[in-house]
Amino acid sequence: RKKLGILISGRGSNMASLVEASRAAECPYEVVLVASDQPDAPGLAWAEAQGIATFAQSPRGMPKPEYESRIDAALREAGVEAIALAGYMRLLSDDFVARWRGRIVNIHPSLLPKYKGLDTHARALAMGDADAGCSVHIVTEELDGGEILGQATVRIEARDTAETLAERVLREEHRLYPRVMTEWIKQLPR
Ligand code: GAR
Repeated sequence: RKKLGILISGRGSNMASLVEASRAAECPYEVVLVASDQPDAPGLAWAEAQGIATFAQSPRGMPKPEYESRIDAALREAGVEAIALAGYMRLLSDDFVARWRGRIVNIHPSLLPKYKGLDTHARALAMGDADAGCSVHIVTEELDGGEILGQATVRIEARDTAETLAERVLREEHRLYPRVMTEWIKQLPR
């Protein structure tokens, strides 16, 4: 099984969906480390309670290269072969992306290439879109810009707010991420 590390910043519900899927006997990956830039992220406590190794590193009061090299060291020490970003709300440097080239994936709450960045649901509503959704993509130096590996679509209803839409899209994220991860990681070279 390939060794997966997951980076989170908060709730960690997508991380939990990846962990839960990894319990299937035929799953091609195992989650060996959950790391966060927020030491009190609820997702970290959840992962710990599941017996998964965790790593918390606040970036505060240190240069970004040092922060990232600590994360990098923790990932490598755990034997991580691929990284999943799951609500990790910090931009990775070009240098970090280059060191893990083609081995980082992210889930983003929009139908990319639409609505890169933040406030995706409010922007989809403001544009009067018929659909919203989520995308899993390879992480490159371009924000939310790498190859799209899979998407799921949700119909926007007249009464939707950013919150109700986020909730429905999140349910799709929880199905999409493990499914795409499973297919992608199988073909990833060791
Ligand atoms: C998810 O909706 C994810 O797609 C989004 O943050 C939420 C995290 O929830 N990610 C981004 O906006 C990335 N820029 P979770 O912590 O419960 O997985």
